[in-house]
Amino acid sequence: MKKRALLFIELLGLSFSVMAQTMSSPDGNLSMDFHLTADKAPVYSLTYKGKTVIKESRMGFLVRPSYDFSKNFRIIETKEDASDTTWNTVWGQNSEVRDNHKELFVALEQEKTGWKFNIRFRIFDDGLGFRYEFPVQKELRHFSLNEEVTEFHLAGNHKAFWIPADYDTNEFQITTSKLSEVPSLIDEARNEALACKSPTPNLAVQTPLMLKSEDGLYINIHEAALVNYPAMHLNLDAETFLMSAHLTPDKNGVKGYIQTGSVTPWRTIIVSDDARDILASNLIINLNEPCKIEDTSWIKPTKYVGVWWEYFTGGGSTWSYTDCQDIVIGKTDYTKLKPHGHHGANTSHVKEYIDFASKHGFDAVLVEGWNEGWEDNYAYAKEYMYSFTKPYPDFDVKELQNYASSKGVKIIMHHETTSSVIDYERQMHDAFRFMKEYGYDAVKTGYVGPIIPRSEHHDGQWMVNHYNRVVEEAAKYKIMINSHEAVRPTGMYRTYPNWIAQESARGTEFESFNGIRQDHQTILPFTRLMGGPMDYTPGIFEGDLSVYGNNKAKVGTTLVKQLALYVTMYSPLQMAADLYQNYEKHMDAFQFIKDVAVDWDNTYILEAEPGDYITIARKARGKNEWFIGGITDENSREATINLDFLPKGKKYQATIYADGKKADWKNNPKDYVISTKKVSSKTVLKQKLAAGGGVAISIKEL
Ligand code: NOJ
Ligand code: CA
Repeated sequence: MKKRALLFIELLGLSFSVMAQTMSSPDGNLSMDFHLTADKAPVYSLTYKGKTVIKESRMGFLVRPSYDFSKNFRIIETKEDASDTTWNTVWGQNSEVRDNHKELFVALEQEKTGWKFNIRFRIFDDGLGFRYEFPVQKELRHFSLNEEVTEFHLAGNHKAFWIPADYDTNEFQITTSKLSEVPSLIDEARNEALACKSPTPNLAVQTPLMLKSEDGLYINIHEAALVNYPAMHLNLDAETFLMSAHLTPDKNGVKGYIQTGSVTPWRTIIVSDDARDILASNLIINLNEPCKIEDTSWIKPTKYVGVWWEYFTGGGSTWSYTDCQDIVIGKTDYTKLKPHGHHGANTSHVKEYIDFASKHGFDAVLVEGWNEGWEDNYAYAKEYMYSFTKPYPDFDVKELQNYASSKGVKIIMHHETTSSVIDYERQMHDAFRFMKEYGYDAVKTGYVGPIIPRSEHHDGQWMVNHYNRVVEEAAKYKIMINSHEAVRPTGMYRTYPNWIAQESARGTEFESFNGIRQDHQTILPFTRLMGGPMDYTPGIFEGDLSVYGNNKAKVGTTLVKQLALYVTMYSPLQMAADLYQNYEKHMDAFQFIKDVAVDWDNTYILEAEPGDYITIARKARGKNEWFIGGITDENSREATINLDFLPKGKKYQATIYADGKKADWKNNPKDYVISTKKVSSKTVLKQKLAAGGGVAISIKEL
């Protein structure tokens, strides 16, 4: 229940009144407090079942060149509200989402300047969100930020699952340590990234940040609805455990350009004493705006294969068509150049993938390396990096369109921009029209390398606006977007469900560089996936890359764990990433990938502990079929899989894909056993997972 108290504070002989506002979650477990301090700075705090989640933490801004917009306020208005609604997802982990929250709105005015901002808090059973709102006002129209002051003062030396702050990449291995250990580990963690890097000058980490307190609280800090604002990192004081907002600057160090009449993204704190509630939380999508696309019938969850993994195996296939350099896109006639003979995206090879996709019921084939420009993808001197309308001479776009459509398969377009963003915006509409002309309705975009030519950052406001603009424009053409190397997602897919997936974390490509530890996939759902689905590209059956000749890497999972990832790594876009020849050798195991759904009516988080294990069951959307995925880290374990989510009083057939007795990720990844079993809602399965292993189960009504 919400209380209001008037506190009278005596300070230096002056007395003034400070209004303390408290508000608790609908179920009463979470409780927040807001008030002004002695220096009239707005602060909030948060408790869960009486335990401190966030100690008194400050709010506000530092405005350029040097105005402190975080103290000397008076409260000019407060309002309370509550709302309990349910909305339908276009696609998702659940067909319906309940949004049950209470709201506190506080309007503040700074005493001398007269400048105003409002804070809107929303408290749910699983956490707190708040954002700043800048009303239109005479005294303040445009301003820019030195920093956002928002603090998250944690109550102790929590265990943290973190990646180092970086303005340009999130493709790091995740480190698990106490907060106090971050300073001694951060340099090593930074060196983990291969991608374009620009480390922050402070001791800071990225969000979504997952924390576990010694008294058993699971806390997740992130943001929702990142629009026209830079992405937030978190500074860390490793002695007091005070974390604070660290916005991504532009190339001149400005941390955001604000025009009044706007709002910031929501700052989100998801809390529970049960790790499963973190994965089940809908707080971030509930804080995003409803879908802005009226007709969503063309947005389709997709399972795909592609001309892709062969570029990573070391087998020799390449994106480029020729070894010739000095190419000028738009002027060089590629038909006059000598091909080097190992170009992946050639018509007949793409047809093999179309045949395979069609035979096994896949929706689509991704083709990378189809277009002019891959010879020099650093291309410092080129005006245009790539053409997004000119196929290589050996990629017959018309022929492939006809072939794919005769086989009932879509081709997924690829736009690697190499972060030549102005160039991409120039070509974008032509590129989208080209896609529509040749029957494409989805594109994987890519932002490898530093942003050209502006030296902006991937996570800065200018790029945030770019990614959002691409998605909005694509929607007008009925095009779905899967963006790679873009800023981490913040639930914007609710508003633009054509933003079907993103990368924005270390995905399967890193298996080919020996770069994925066994606990990685048990942490990602608690971190990166909190903001939205990931194009993780699982399904690698041949885990020993030395079979291709030049690559000594070993995939860090058993084959069965690769199956389980289709359920544990939620995405409406799922790739079967391996070469089709490797699936042909294991058709029995491949059956799970063929069967597994990519869109869901209900999700049941059965077991979860970040860094250790996850077991999830999901009901396929519109079908009486259920799929379960269980994964573990480097330790073997026994999963307890309670099927009480199945409708009662019926009999079902479960097909269980399990690690074999001698399986382990390192020495025996392909040892698997497939069995069937009659089950009901009363069944509790005990299932052994190998080190680095998993379990995958499909269930059908009998
Ligand atoms: C990096 C992407 O993550 C990967 O999937 C893609 O193949 C390459 N860039 C080339 O665009
Ligand atoms: Ca572990």
